[in-house]
Amino acid sequence: MTFIDQLLGAMTLAEKIGQLTMGTGDQAVTGPVLKGDVSEGVRKGAIGSLLNFWGAESVAAIQKVAIEESRLGIPLLIGFDVLHGHRTIFPIPLAEAASFDPAIWESTAREAAIEAARDGIALTFAPMLDVARDPRWGRIAESPGEDPWVAARFAEAKVRGFQGNNLSSPSALAATAKHFCAYGAALAGRDYASVDISEQLLHEVFLPPFGAAVAAGCAAVMPAFNDIAGIPMTAHIPLLRQWLRQRQGFDGVIVSDYHAIEEFLCHGTAAGLAEAAAAALKAGVDIDMMSDAYPLGLPEALVRGLVTMADVDQSVRRVLELKQRLGLFKAPFARGAQNPAAPGEAKARRELAREAARRAIVLLTNDKVLPLSAKARKIAVIGPLAEATSEMGGPWAASGAPHDWISIADGLAAALPDRALVVTAGVSIESDAASGIVTALDLCAKADVILLCLGERANMSGEAASRANPILPGHQASLAEAVLGLGKPVVVLLSSGRPLMIRDIVEKADAVVATWFLGAEAGHAIADVLTGQFNPTGRLPVSWPRDIGQVPLYFATRPTGRPADPKNSYTSKYLDMPNEPLFFFGHGLSYTSFCLQNLRTAASTIRRDQSIMIEVDAINKGDMAGEETIFLFIHDPVASIGRPLLELKTMAKAKLAPGERTTVHLQLKGEDLCYPGLDFKPLFEPGDVEILIGPSADPRGLLRLTLRMMA
Ligand code: GLC
Repeated sequence: MTFIDQLLGAMTLAEKIGQLTMGTGDQAVTGPVLKGDVSEGVRKGAIGSLLNFWGAESVAAIQKVAIEESRLGIPLLIGFDVLHGHRTIFPIPLAEAASFDPAIWESTAREAAIEAARDGIALTFAPMLDVARDPRWGRIAESPGEDPWVAARFAEAKVRGFQGNNLSSPSALAATAKHFCAYGAALAGRDYASVDISEQLLHEVFLPPFGAAVAAGCAAVMPAFNDIAGIPMTAHIPLLRQWLRQRQGFDGVIVSDYHAIEEFLCHGTAAGLAEAAAAALKAGVDIDMMSDAYPLGLPEALVRGLVTMADVDQSVRRVLELKQRLGLFKAPFARGAQNPAAPGEAKARRELAREAARRAIVLLTNDKVLPLSAKARKIAVIGPLAEATSEMGGPWAASGAPHDWISIADGLAAALPDRALVVTAGVSIESDAASGIVTALDLCAKADVILLCLGERANMSGEAASRANPILPGHQASLAEAVLGLGKPVVVLLSSGRPLMIRDIVEKADAVVATWFLGAEAGHAIADVLTGQFNPTGRLPVSWPRDIGQVPLYFATRPTGRPADPKNSYTSKYLDMPNEPLFFFGHGLSYTSFCLQNLRTAASTIRRDQSIMIEVDAINKGDMAGEETIFLFIHDPVASIGRPLLELKTMAKAKLAPGERTTVHLQLKGEDLCYPGLDFKPLFEPGDVEILIGPSADPRGLLRLTLRMMA
């Protein structure tokens, strides 16, 4: 009999339900209900885990209550939303995705885990893996973007980073893959709204990132708030029990989202708490985060035979096993009791934050105004985001404190001490006052170049922050129009958690830079790029719409029987605008220029069990060293199920000195050419397949060759 068997055997029903109940501290508010002081519940063994609680001392104190004052002394599991940093805040996930750099993704997760563990945290509710293709949806900010292949690589890197090599290490965090699944396909981009998508799309797009997370050893999964076709994800037996646990082999903990189980009553799929508790437990959900369903509904569900004690024990066992894997039984205080940060550790972490931020910046347009000229002596830094610091943390900055974050103006002043910088907001982010525009114009009148710092407030994206029309809030468009009307060089810097609808600005500005929300080192990173200290490498992880009327908009769309043809009215197009995005997935300029040529492969055929090497030559044609990101897409022109026009299968980077040429190698496995067949199992269908290589999903920039898939 194992330790867990013995412990389980000694537990009362109330103590078992306690292990399935997650309470919340008050150091952050991340949901609609709060329940006050938790210490009594911990003392009674009625709470087995906590979220929104951090700090070595306070965690040790509540852990002490659990271990010394409850009957069985079972340690608490402490969870928190460490999404993109803990004390040191890194760029928001959508920005990090723009670096297309798994090494950076892993490093920032590792550093966040080190900081969070020191604060007594043992589990993070991250990585968020929801493929997002609708900028109206506020949580696109937390996502790795529109592509499932990118999201899968992001999943692997983040799980490795958060969990490290050994979950019982004091610097390890259990990772939680969330929100399972298809949360990003919410109706009309409205958070929490119903999702109704095909099973084919589910298997092609929304499930693969979670499969990758499970394969990477992710310790926990959090179902999404949404239903899919009327079944709440938190009660979705086909996807939770059959796909996740049985087909993927996931044997970790499933923790509900905040209050989600009780919300079956609003979903209209449970009459009361007992039914809600039974539906979730039967679906394999182990922990009820902040609802009354398990604490109050499970006892009744047992009495009524809606669930069995074996169902309860199965979930309790998984929770206890996770606590054991985390080392909480043997050393419950180890994380918070670690030695304080070594000298220089914090500085190194800030340097990583700056590097991650630099690599997240996407240069969208540049009409020879960047990098800033040495002749630009007087620089006007205008706009409501010019001196913003707390906004730079984005919507999930959790325990990050903005007191030492670097604003855009601060970063520029530090980078350009010999220039005359003048700074004013002109307008606030969303208020109706436009009186400051006159002052702004006065300052611009004497400037050699104008940096227009526009965008959103941090809480305009993230959870419960969908925007039906994601334009520049407030009077920022009026400020932009006035400044752009001066006829001076203008660089627009966009701080946002999503693509904003900015096609008018793009037409008039001399340069537009997507700076997202870059975290603690935002200002320094932006200055590094604007001054040319760092040649921008960021690429868009989402298609950037011309207009919100185009969404959902993404490159991997299926063919239509009537593809757009401007010469034929009976084709799939708009009357009032092109189908194409303003900027394609993968778009991002450099201060140099690259050329790809001579796409080739020794193979002309590929079997499912084979792997072939595709080669392409990359040349730096400019006079500045730079880094190119090269994507490999496929298109299967004839298949049993219509295949997307482009599917991303791998990528590579090439760092090149001016004039340097290199051969880039991209490995393609036959298995990568499979797609979910009618039974949703991977199907390899012989026939021609097109290989397309380029710097973005813009078809005009893709080199092509054809392979034959052989049985
Ligand atoms: C929130 C979010 C989820 C988060 C959880 C705990 O509602 O949906 O992403 O991890 O609650 O804060």
